Amino acid sequence: MAAPLNLLQLTQGEKTFGGQHIFQKASFAVNEGEHLGVIGPNGAGKTTLFRILIGEEDLDSGQMIKSQTLKLGYLSQHDHWGETETGNQFLERVCQMPTWQVKSSGRDLRVSEAMLDRPILSLSGGYRMRIKLLGLLGQKPTLMLLDEPTNYLDLETTLLLERFLQNFDGAFMLISHDREFLRRTTDHILEVEQGK
Ligand SMILES: Nc1ncnc2c1ncn2[C@@H]1O[C@H](COP(=O)(O)OP(=O)(O)O)[C@@H](O)[C@H]1O
Ligand SMILES: [Mg+2]
Repeated sequence: MAAPLNLLQLTQGEKTFGGQHIFQKASFAVNEGEHLGVIGPNGAGKTTLFRILIGEEDLDSGQMIKSQTLKLGYLSQHDHWGETETGNQFLERVCQMPTWQVKSSGRDLRVSEAMLDRPILSLSGGYRMRIKLLGLLGQKPTLMLLDEPTNYLDLETTLLLERFLQNFDGAFMLISHDREFLRRTTDHILEVEQGK
């Protein structure tokens, strides 16, 4: 079997905000198909790490190597949809492939057509998360960055998400406070502590 391809590598990454060290000498790599958990206290710099990876923040120093095949998909902690936007309109807006294909590849997330026809803002946190994930799948990322998707989820969605992530062929990095959830869905866990 061929060695897994390295998608992304960060070496000796440093980041400070106004003199405060967010991290120092941060190094890690993600391979194709790898499931990497990210854990750490609030304010430790987990979201900042993701924002650096997608290019919304710069590193102060260090090196980031991205493979040719790397295509990042970011599921942020915050939502960006219109006041009246329905699930179907959202998928039309963000997906780069036909939405029927997205819905079919994400059928394990159990989002019905009736749910997709409603304004997203009228749906529960669990359904909003499922639709956000569908939107992400429709961008065909080779590495998904999931920022605390398990917050405020109902039990059913948490279980669906767990099974979905366990069966997911592609690579992802998953920030969560839930160590047990990370243990069940990821191969390795990256600990982010203040300044490390
Ligand atoms: N753009 C910014 N400017 C200044 N400080 C920031 C900025 N973004 C985040 N921070 C600070 O950096 C620290 C890490 O934030 P964050 O990455 O959001 O932590 P986490 O996601 O681990 O809770 C926090 O102290 C936060 O206030
Ligand atoms: Mg955060």
